[in-house]
Amino acid sequence: MTHIPVLLKETIDILGIKNGDKVIDATFGGGGHTAAILDNYDCYVLGVDRDQDAIKRAEKVKEKFGGKFDFKICNFSNLSDILSGKFDAILFDFGVSSFQLDNAERGFSFSKDGRLDMRMTKEKGISAFYVVNTFSEEDIAEIIWKYGEEPKARKIASEIIQSRKTKKIETTLQLKQIISKVFVNRTCLKIDVATKTFQAIRIYVNDELREIDLALKGLPNILNVGARVATISFHSLEDKIVKNWSKSVTYAQPINKSPIKPTRDEILKNPRSRSAILRGFLYIDNRKERLN
Ligand SMILES: C[S@@+](CC[C@H](N)C(=O)[O-])C[C@H]1O[C@@H](n2cnc3c(N)ncnc32)[C@H](O)[C@@H]1O
Repeated sequence: MTHIPVLLKETIDILGIKNGDKVIDATFGGGGHTAAILDNYDCYVLGVDRDQDAIKRAEKVKEKFGGKFDFKICNFSNLSDILSGKFDAILFDFGVSSFQLDNAERGFSFSKDGRLDMRMTKEKGISAFYVVNTFSEEDIAEIIWKYGEEPKARKIASEIIQSRKTKKIETTLQLKQIISKVFVNRTCLKIDVATKTFQAIRIYVNDELREIDLALKGLPNILNVGARVATISFHSLEDKIVKNWSKSVTYAQPINKSPIKPTRDEILKNPRSRSAILRGFLYIDNRKERLN
């Protein structure tokens, strides 16, 4: 089980780290980006993740880098509550890690059978099981449409309601089978028919879009002027929030005109990178925004 860090060199370039800098990796995951940063710069990195499972991976990074690294469990929307002092760079690599997807027990993946769960913060908040077994048809359809942009959201919601009348929907493969019934005549197999629905439920369960919005808006509280921000999005819903934020504030100056995407070579080596979109921003002085 490994997680290959996406757009690694490009992200490090965006972060523009100098020796002595204090860096936040707000989505530590397997520590891929963190380890590369610490290997290359004499800086300090604070790793943050909402998932308790990241602790054991953080301990390995701590063993190697000692005082140059610390780790905290926290939602990145709450960073200002846990930090002391200001930082010079921050990285957000949104979404789920391969560790989460590959662990059937976490119930994220339609390619591994496990109890439907999808909570990044383990055992906190409502699970995917609760959503599909208790929410109304209208609410399920709205979630699948809003967070999965799935054209067949209504039909899938209706199929879920029909199925659960006879038997609770307990597992990821059960849900996948129910979704498949809506796509019986589908011939194009570019992505699995369950992809959008699983993405939608995961985003809802973890309140992922609000987390991103709050975290970006809170950056003036935690960054030094001149700090750099790197965001890696994996779908248009995430990227839209980043773009809207950068347009609506005056303190985030885009570093590149266009977003950075993986090369064909990277996609071949790491297919998970295929939809990655990297953006970089310079945090510039704006007293008015900081005081608000
Ligand atoms: C794509 S992975 C990051 C992988 C990491 N860059 C690496 O190279 O190993 C995303 C990680 O962010 C975490 N995460 C997602 N949303 C979060 C949030 N709101 N607050 C804190 N961590 C979050 C997930 O638990 C997951 O471990």
